[in-house]
Amino acid sequence: MKYTLSTTIGLLVFLCLMSCEKNQHAILSEALKPHLPEVSYDYVAENQKINELKLPDFALVNSISSGFQSPSTVNIHAPVKIKVENNDAATLGRVLFYDAQLSKNNATACASCHQQSKAFADGTDLSQGFGGKVTERNSMGFSNLATNNNFFWDSRQDLMQDLVKEPVTNHIEMGMEDMTSLVEKLKIISYYPELFEKAYGSSYIDEDRFAHAVSEFLASISSTNSTFDRAIENDFESFNSLQKLGMAIFFSEKAKCGSCHSGANFSAADGSFGEYANSAGTANIGLEVNYSDNGMSEGQFKIPSLRNIALTAPYMHDGRFESLREVLNHYNENIQPHQNLDDKLMQGGSPLKIQLNSLELDALEAFLHTLTDVEMTTNPMYSNPFVR
Ligand code: HEC
Ligand code: HEC
Repeated sequence: MKYTLSTTIGLLVFLCLMSCEKNQHAILSEALKPHLPEVSYDYVAENQKINELKLPDFALVNSISSGFQSPSTVNIHAPVKIKVENNDAATLGRVLFYDAQLSKNNATACASCHQQSKAFADGTDLSQGFGGKVTERNSMGFSNLATNNNFFWDSRQDLMQDLVKEPVTNHIEMGMEDMTSLVEKLKIISYYPELFEKAYGSSYIDEDRFAHAVSEFLASISSTNSTFDRAIENDFESFNSLQKLGMAIFFSEKAKCGSCHSGANFSAADGSFGEYANSAGTANIGLEVNYSDNGMSEGQFKIPSLRNIALTAPYMHDGRFESLREVLNHYNENIQPHQNLDDKLMQGGSPLKIQLNSLELDALEAFLHTLTDVEMTTNPMYSNPFVR
């Protein structure tokens, strides 16, 4: 008797839990329907815009000049390697990017750590991921990723379609057991079958379609309208004198910034990496005598793009610097000796001391601010579709 009763109660509790869970799930996805435009945004065109980025000749990697001069030619310098071809897939990718249901506890979306208003960084040194755990590195801001083939701080990933699966199953970031559990989850969320159908001609969901859609969205995120980009059109007449001085310093032999942060994305990730061909676009910049995180190896980290850099504090792979000024102070006077310190940051066998004065530091900082592109950080194409 006792046995039957407890079994019955147990069964009732079990059934209730099952249906409660189902209901909750239904309610969650009903309340969180994405709001999408009638006619899809043109992600294909946005991706192609990256191909038209220009760079004045004095800024080319191999012709670092002694300072600012009016450009005699303007070069196109940011070949797109990842071509966006499917607007409906990119639209699906946008929904996936903002959907917290991609995480085990429905609390963390890609966008939790990659916020549009912060140029897709998140404003903290290490990010809160699944279940309150903290990431080992600083979240990366991004734009013009379509020109990249080296992803993450240690350049460990060269294929975007593989990259996008990493955060989902990472136990710190989103905590799903594996891609199969993600696919099973997506199948029962009301709005996905239709979005997959639109993108791929059938509502079938698998990890390759997931990865393709998110990649199409990421590769469409373009930054082509910063203050700097616009100034190229008028030979930098729209730059004030501080910005011009800062640009001259940035591309000078003395400060060397433009020799690593090169090309139209101010990173080593463009084209063939030029002289970085053998190191996957990474360098050791003397942050430590002994690195606790060695990056790719020997303290070498990805030479990140400086587009929108004023929006992505804190800085470096571990978020150690709160402000651009702290970054500049590092390069100016605090580069540490390391057996693998990049040659460009050495002088006579010791770490380089650039020794800019405070006006020059102000100027360099003012120049870095011209790389901000408000059009990108406010473009509705990249915004959260779950809020109206
Ligand atoms: C909990 C925070 C967190 C979440 C969630 C997260 N990321 Fe990240 N993301 C990071 C961190 C931290 C890094 C740097 C990791 C490293 O270098 O090891 C990173 C790096 C990246 C990069 C590399 C950028 C570059 O320039 O190399 C891309 C792209 C990216 N994430 C996309 C995504 C996508 C897509 C999702 C969702 C599927 C996602 N992230 C979810 C924190 C997060
Ligand atoms: C030898 C190559 C090299 C040179 C020269 C160089 N950088 Fe860097 N820069 C890097 C690398 C690599 C990182 C990332 C290091 C890390 O996180 O450990 C970086 C990081 C940065 C960051 C932070 C980026 C972020 O997303 O957190 C800024 C800002 C920056 N550099 C500006 C400059 C300026 C300004 C100069 C000139 C004074 C300069 N860099 C010179 C290679 C270089």
